[in-house]
Amino acid sequence: MIPRVGAAPVSKLTSLPPLSLYVHVPWCVRKCPYCDFNSHELKNEVPEREYLAALQADLEQALPLVWGRQVVSIFIGGGTPSLLSARALDDMLSLFRACMNILPDAEITMEANPGTVEAGRFAEYAASGVNRISLGIQSFDDQALKALGRIHDGRQACDAIAIAQRAVQRVNLDLMYALPQQSVEACAQDLKQAMSFETGHLSLYHLTLEPNTVFAKYPPVVPDDDTSAAMQDLITEATSAGGWEQYEVSAYAKPGQRCLHNLNYWEFGDYLGVGPGAHGKLSFHDKIIRQAKLKNPSSWMQNAVRRDGSHVAEERVIAPGELGFEFMLNALRLKAGVPASSFREHTGLSVLSIAPAINRAVSKGLLEPDPSRFQATPLGWRFLNDLQAEFLD
Ligand SMILES: C[S@@+](CC[C@H](N)C(=O)[O-])C[C@H]1O[C@@H](n2cnc3c(N)ncnc32)[C@H](O)[C@@H]1O
Ligand code: SF4
Repeated sequence: MIPRVGAAPVSKLTSLPPLSLYVHVPWCVRKCPYCDFNSHELKNEVPEREYLAALQADLEQALPLVWGRQVVSIFIGGGTPSLLSARALDDMLSLFRACMNILPDAEITMEANPGTVEAGRFAEYAASGVNRISLGIQSFDDQALKALGRIHDGRQACDAIAIAQRAVQRVNLDLMYALPQQSVEACAQDLKQAMSFETGHLSLYHLTLEPNTVFAKYPPVVPDDDTSAAMQDLITEATSAGGWEQYEVSAYAKPGQRCLHNLNYWEFGDYLGVGPGAHGKLSFHDKIIRQAKLKNPSSWMQNAVRRDGSHVAEERVIAPGELGFEFMLNALRLKAGVPASSFREHTGLSVLSIAPAINRAVSKGLLEPDPSRFQATPLGWRFLNDLQAEFLD
């Protein structure tokens, strides 16, 4: 147990955490009915020139917030970044290299939709510096893909994986389970097929019916809790037997294949977000701020190039009370948790500021009693929302 007595929280950082860059590409061929990401159905061609000009303006206005810092990873997410031409992607990465100090072997991930994968273009993305591709497979079953409103079928999913594996060494497959009408056997078949490609990383998400989506308005019939729990059990067993270690709620990796970009989020590192709706979290010696850009792609593009800061929708200092919760919300997603010392390093606060919550969580059997680590117990892992809620101010 941690004593409740002691000094008031300190709010000074002695060093800054690693910095990542997130880039949002907001367009998709079609909006999937389950998706609540900031993604917009493309009416015409991607407005690449306008987008890149706005991206440059967005980045240049943000540079004073990260002067001199090294960027350890870049994640180009969406939306569907694989709608960008090879030329546009190359220009984008050249822009980042010209403006920022990017670690020479930085992880550079690009998200791709199997319906937009062309072999030649993927080789060119890799030649420009993309070294990790994350494919939105979701399922290999044509019926399931249709129910999800996907623009690709199972055959295209397999082809896209082969193309991605030829282009880069690090490939992630996104799969969803607990799909409309899905049986445990169908989930097992999807997983078996995904594992047969031996990619280094798998992201396996339980389908959630998000507010303000077509699925929220017209809910499909999805598996009940017992069935989806059986799917989770089979995922745990099969991935572990196949050599993928679950290191986060939805992330499974072979040795050396963890997603460094996402790890930096979960370890409460810093990230600058550029592009419409992109979020950032940036540390300074005396404060930590959150930033969000305008969500609407046209408004973001028009405002960014004015260079008057009007493309920033929100910028605020994170209050000490929120910091403790945000840190634990992320850290406890990691199966192995984080060293307790990183709390002070990354928040500037004393661990004493969250001592009551720690003591409560330990006494409920949700948090390991080890004072040198914050890690969920098996019970806390099963009821992660309850454990995280203990840290709400
Ligand atoms: C931002 S999407 C990007 C991938 C790419 N746009 C695609 O769909 O091919 C990242 C991943 O989040 C997952 N995802 C999106 N909406 C979800 C939902 N409602 N429930 C569970 N997972 C979801 C999907 O697996 C998706 O591949
Ligand atoms: S392709 Fe991906 S980002 Fe686009 S709507 Fe579908 S799930 Fe969302």
